[in-house]
Amino acid sequence: MPESTLQAGTIDELLRPFPPSPASVIPLLQQVQTRYGYLAPENLARVAEYTHAPRSRVYGVATFYSQFRLSKPGKHVVRVCQGTACHVLGAEKILDELKEMLRIEEGETTADGEFTLEVVRCLGCCSLAPALMIDNETCGRLTRKRVGEVLASWRGKDRA
Ligand code: FES
Repeated sequence: MPESTLQAGTIDELLRPFPPSPASVIPLLQQVQTRYGYLAPENLARVAEYTHAPRSRVYGVATFYSQFRLSKPGKHVVRVCQGTACHVLGAEKILDELKEMLRIEEGETTADGEFTLEVVRCLGCCSLAPALMIDNETCGRLTRKRVGEVLASWRGKDRA
């Protein structure tokens, strides 16, 4: 589970191997996100300070690339594919079912902090379409009914 808050000193360990220049912003944001699971405001500010890049630029990079997340994710991240192969086989219905069951829209986290829902364009397992991934586990050949079963099996489970 990613740590929820910045701990002074810890982020500096991540920064130190990179040159303190604006060219380091993207790789540093990737490091911070890998470590904490998202980019907290205080970590964005520290990256800006370290790289001598304006905060607005660091924030702009963090919001431009979909790989970056600005809020703390739920315990499990559900990535549902809406790529071509999955779309042809009903991915839209799978997404609708997920939204309905979790009562959230894409990019949101359930009130209990259990699931975050994300939409992706391909999971690299098109032969299993329509597919989704929960944490690092792939679930394929989904139907609306299977979505409920998959969520139920993950609810309350520890993070993979
Ligand atoms: S299009 Fe869905 S896994 Fe490739």
